[in-house]
Amino acid sequence: MRTVHTLKELRAMLRSYRQQGKRIGLVPTMGNLHEGHISLVRKAREAADIVVTSIFVNPMQFGAAEDLDTYPRTLIEDQERLEAAGSTLVFAPSNDEIYPEGLARHTRIVVPEVSEGHCGASRPGHFEGVATVVTKLFNMVHPDIAVFGEKDFQQLAVIRKLARDLMIPVEVIGAPTVREKDGLAKSSRNGYLTEQQRAVAPVLYRTLQQTAEQIRRGRTDFHTLEAEANKALAEAGLRPDYFNIANSLTLKPANTDDTELTLLVAAFLGTTRLIDNLSITR
Ligand code: PAF
Repeated sequence: MRTVHTLKELRAMLRSYRQQGKRIGLVPTMGNLHEGHISLVRKAREAADIVVTSIFVNPMQFGAAEDLDTYPRTLIEDQERLEAAGSTLVFAPSNDEIYPEGLARHTRIVVPEVSEGHCGASRPGHFEGVATVVTKLFNMVHPDIAVFGEKDFQQLAVIRKLARDLMIPVEVIGAPTVREKDGLAKSSRNGYLTEQQRAVAPVLYRTLQQTAEQIRRGRTDFHTLEAEANKALAEAGLRPDYFNIANSLTLKPANTDDTELTLLVAAFLGTTRLIDNLSITR
């Protein structure tokens, strides 16, 4: 496995793979890799001959008060894990490589509707940053397929729409969320939790499951269910950001006759913001 840091090196490597007729897969990450990321690499390997994993902590998707500076950067460990998982190439560019003229005057990709609400409402500009960097990665790698985790359900919807709208010839593949034994979704931010917070964190997934069960039993009073879920999270010691029951396709608030629903949650444990989701068919 090789690691390259510049677009020039990346393009040279990819040119030769393409000449050999190889199918190219892309797994965009911000590094600090865990089992969830490794499952994305494995999925990419199933669908492509060559897997490019990008590691770039994208400053454009962080708000001013967010954890850009403290976000864990663990390139050496990440490279070892990626080699073991079968990644062919790591692309780990610097900020200057991706944003040579800085962020302020850079072109931005805005994906309407699915970017609004949920994390889009709580983190203004976040999905603009994600959409911009992912579009750049698509243009740099020209992958046949790209794999993203379903844990970031809204992000996946944003990326599917941008690829469709901008006619980027890439197949966007979603991979199921990988969980700890107690149900907590694997996330780089779990590492920020104290022992006590870590013991509380599985309530997030439990609340999703309990609310889903209520819907399966026929409840359609979605606003009341959301309020009950927020109360359960607050009682467990979390500070809920949102708990929303949405139409899985549009991500708009669910109607009583929708059959595909996704429950999306974000909540703070101390200063750590955790997200999760659960999709159900009625
Ligand atoms: O999900 C992530 O890690 C990031 O949002 C992504 C897709 C790599 C873009 O920076």
